[in-house]
Amino acid sequence: MFFSPSSNCVFLSFHWKMPRNGCLCPSLIITFSLAVFFQSQMIIRSLNPCLEVIPGITYKCMELNLSAIPPDIPNSAQSLDLSFNPLGILTSNYFSPLFALKFLDLTRCNIQNIEDNAFAGLCNLSVLILTANPLHFLGARAFHDLTSLKRLVAVQTELYSLDNLPIGQLTSLQELNLGNNYIDSLKLPEYFSHLLFLKFLNLQANKISSISVGDLDALSSQNLTLVLSKNDIKHIEVNAIAGLHLQKLSLRGCFESSTIMQASLQNLTGLYANSLVLGDYRNIKKLQTFSKGILDALCHMRLQEITLICTNGDVDNTDDLSLCLNNFSTIRLVDTYIKDVSNFPENSSIRHLEFKDSRFRQVPSVRLSSLKELRSLHITRTKQLVEFEEDFQGLQKLETLDLSQNALTADLCWLCLRKGVPNLKYLNLSFNVRISLEPECYGLPKLEMMDLQHTTLSGAGELPVFLCLPNLIYLDISHTHTNIQSECTFCGLKSLQVLKMAGNTFENNQLLNTLKNLSSLRILDISNCRLQYLSLNSLASLHELRELNISHNKLLGLHPEAYVHLQALTILDFHSNQLSVLTEKDLQNLPSSLKNLDLSQNLFDCSCDNLHFLQWAKENRNLLRHVENMICHSPKHLRDARLMNFDLASCRVSTATVAISMSISVVLVLSLILVYKYYFHLYYLAVLLGGRRRSAEEDSVYDAFVIYSSRDQEWVRRELEETLEMGVPSFRLCFFYRDFIPGVPVITNIIKQGFQSSRKVITVVSSHFLESRWCNFELEVAQSWQLLDSKASMIWVVLDGTDKAVLQRKLGLFRYLRRNTYLVWKDSELNRHIFLRQLRSALLNG
Ligand SMILES: *[C@@H]1O[C@H](CO)[C@@H](O)[C@H](O)[C@H]1NC(C)=O
Ligand SMILES: *[C@@H]1O[C@H](CO)[C@@H](O)[C@H](O)[C@H]1NC(C)=O
Ligand SMILES: *[C@@H]1O[C@H](CO)[C@@H](O)[C@H](O)[C@H]1NC(C)=O
Ligand SMILES: *[C@@H]1O[C@H](CO)[C@@H](O)[C@H](O)[C@H]1NC(C)=O
Ligand SMILES: *[C@@H]1O[C@H](CO)[C@@H](O)[C@H](O)[C@H]1NC(C)=O
Ligand SMILES: *[C@@H]1O[C@H](CO)[C@@H](O)[C@H](O)[C@H]1NC(C)=O
Ligand SMILES: *[C@@H]1O[C@H](CO)[C@@H](O)[C@H](O)[C@H]1NC(C)=O
Ligand SMILES: *[C@@H]1O[C@H](CO)[C@@H](O)[C@H](O)[C@H]1NC(C)=O
Repeated sequence: MFFSPSSNCVFLSFHWKMPRNGCLCPSLIITFSLAVFFQSQMIIRSLNPCLEVIPGITYKCMELNLSAIPPDIPNSAQSLDLSFNPLGILTSNYFSPLFALKFLDLTRCNIQNIEDNAFAGLCNLSVLILTANPLHFLGARAFHDLTSLKRLVAVQTELYSLDNLPIGQLTSLQELNLGNNYIDSLKLPEYFSHLLFLKFLNLQANKISSISVGDLDALSSQNLTLVLSKNDIKHIEVNAIAGLHLQKLSLRGCFESSTIMQASLQNLTGLYANSLVLGDYRNIKKLQTFSKGILDALCHMRLQEITLICTNGDVDNTDDLSLCLNNFSTIRLVDTYIKDVSNFPENSSIRHLEFKDSRFRQVPSVRLSSLKELRSLHITRTKQLVEFEEDFQGLQKLETLDLSQNALTADLCWLCLRKGVPNLKYLNLSFNVRISLEPECYGLPKLEMMDLQHTTLSGAGELPVFLCLPNLIYLDISHTHTNIQSECTFCGLKSLQVLKMAGNTFENNQLLNTLKNLSSLRILDISNCRLQYLSLNSLASLHELRELNISHNKLLGLHPEAYVHLQALTILDFHSNQLSVLTEKDLQNLPSSLKNLDLSQNLFDCSCDNLHFLQWAKENRNLLRHVENMICHSPKHLRDARLMNFDLASCRVSTATVAISMSISVVLVLSLILVYKYYFHLYYLAVLLGGRRRSAEEDSVYDAFVIYSSRDQEWVRRELEETLEMGVPSFRLCFFYRDFIPGVPVITNIIKQGFQSSRKVITVVSSHFLESRWCNFELEVAQSWQLLDSKASMIWVVLDGTDKAVLQRKLGLFRYLRRNTYLVWKDSELNRHIFLRQLRSALLNG
């Protein structure tokens, strides 16, 4: 019953199925389909208001004035957001029909009561959010069955005590968030001993005012992160949290004054934790003064990391902090007024030092140089920080230098960096104002990662400024206003695996040889670079490339050969270009390793010429990303239609038409060829049939038509023409050389003058006659004539020396025609006499 995205195809494909030219009024049909479509959608909307994000799995029903679970949520649903609906009371088995749920959000549902077994059956539920409900009554078995629950969020639920919370059965619980309630005691109830996997307990902004010995005794899990920030803690008993190892203890905004904080920390001696967070909130500043000794108590704690947040103007030099900080490995100073650092003691243990949102004007390179153990230094998000002189001295162990998100303008001197921080592996100068780079032959030999994104770079693009960074693996120069002009821009980067350079430009908007030697490259981002052309060679040496992002350019496509070189490619992002189609060659060459291909927002040509591609796209939906944004640009009648909705059948129809018309033309051509070849026979047939009709009406002019080979002309003249025509009785014979009418086709003559006007046909058979194709043809005509005209009869005159076998073969078929006279001529006086008599009588016969 839910609105499913597939239902719109029905109407669109309906339109698409129309013959492309034959459709009388496509606009009417579109209008009609759209109307039906929207109407159907509206009906669906009113039936079910929930948003189906993933069909059958994820549903969002926020703020719909629902007082119960909508009946149409299928029991396969795994994620359900019911927030901002007035559900009121959760009775038993409230959610039982939705037994597959893994995520359930009930934020602000005005839930006051949760009765026993309200969540019965939800044995796979992992996350339950009850934020902002006035939970006045919770049945003892309210959370029964939630054996898989890992995360319970009950922020702002008017809870007064941990004792009232029936969560002892939630044995999988890892995170319990009870912030913004009225809980006034940290005394953990007995049931916490069942929560073996609890990692995170948030009691922020409650009413806890004291921490006493034994409060955390019930805790059985190790490595807990305990957040007590925004509780107004007045009293901490000595050794209250001793004997327990915490992952993190957060006491931000917990103390009314510096004095109370100092005394409290004193009583926390013996604390054993990885991390301790102290300080204030920006809007609630309680610590008015921050005297020097305030943190001295930290000397007696076993901590790795200390974070100090939001201290007021009293702390403007690291000197104002306790020397104890030197005992810790990690110091994070966030949102402080620190402007300067003083010399740290030589034996300081600080390895990681972080200043975020401080007040530096200049990177305190020299002063920090006394931190011989320093591995990583971060000075970030400081808008006042504009200067960077690379005069670190002997920070042999420094590997990470993060100076991102400041306002630095600096000339980067590789040589100076190499002197001060020779082992630097990570340098982040992103989001600053301007960095100038020089081509130098003394780079940082160990540098592996460099991030310069969103900082204007001078020098890069024209000069080989990365020349001596042979170990650099990761380089980000995205959006640095770099115009790549030199082929040698990336010279020297032998180990580079990741190059991100989105949002820059290339000379003439062409990518030619710049990337040629980066043969270890695995990830390349050249999106948003206004590229219009990529030469075939530009990517040819990138055999290791896994990810290529060339989105947001103006490319018409890649050279089909280009794919051949990219045989390791798994991700290709080609979205927002001007691609119209992937050619058959492209598709053939597409690397088999490809898992993720984004071709959305291109200018697709959805005409049947590209059927191959369109079909491929449908078959490879899993490979393609953002298919909903693959939109046809042409032909006109399909503009803005989704490529995936293209109806392949509409092309197949025309394929059939093409096939039919093809075969028709083939037949036509064949017949033309046949007509051309047998033109003569056809013509003869026509004349023959035409002649037969008339033969009855016409009287014979000749007594006989003589067929013979021209090579027997002499014999014919002597023995037939002279003897028969001159003799008594005198016969009239028809000879082609004498009686045929000039200018009339021979075949017409043969039939009209010969057969039609003669009573008989005399065929003079000799070896010449049998050899001649013409005579054979005449014979054929004569025979068919005889077939058609029953009156006609033939006289065969066989001359001496004729091959009898051949004759038998030729005339075999007609031997049964008894009325034919068969005469043999032999050159002797007696025979001639007999022959003549026989011939005369044959001619007179009939
Ligand atoms: C919410 O539904 C109730 C009845 O279930 C109705 O009385 C109330 O007017 C509805 N509120 C809104 C804002 O639609
Ligand atoms: C709970 O999840 C498991 C594994 O994901 C699954 O096999 C089982 O069918 C689910 N139980 C319910 C009631 O959906
Ligand atoms: C403690 O938890 C942190 C993250 O919460 C984790 O990184 C660390 O490995 C855990 N240590 C132990 C000993 O479980
Ligand atoms: C610290 O412990 C002492 C001795 O138990 C106690 O008198 C004092 O009030 C405690 N201070 C604070 C701030 O809790
Ligand atoms: C550093 O040396 C000072 C004396 O110079 C000493 O008091 C302090 O305990 C030492 N700190 C460490 C962490 O060794
Ligand atoms: C560099 O710093 C910026 C801003 O703090 C951050 O977004 C980016 O991820 C950092 N770069 C690397 C490679 O860690
Ligand atoms: C590529 O490397 C070869 C030799 O390794 C060198 O001759 C050529 O100049 C380099 N080309 C570019 C563009 O870096
Ligand atoms: C490619 O870059 C664009 C923007 O430059 C970004 O939106 C997109 O997510 C990137 N694609 C991939 C696969 O990372």
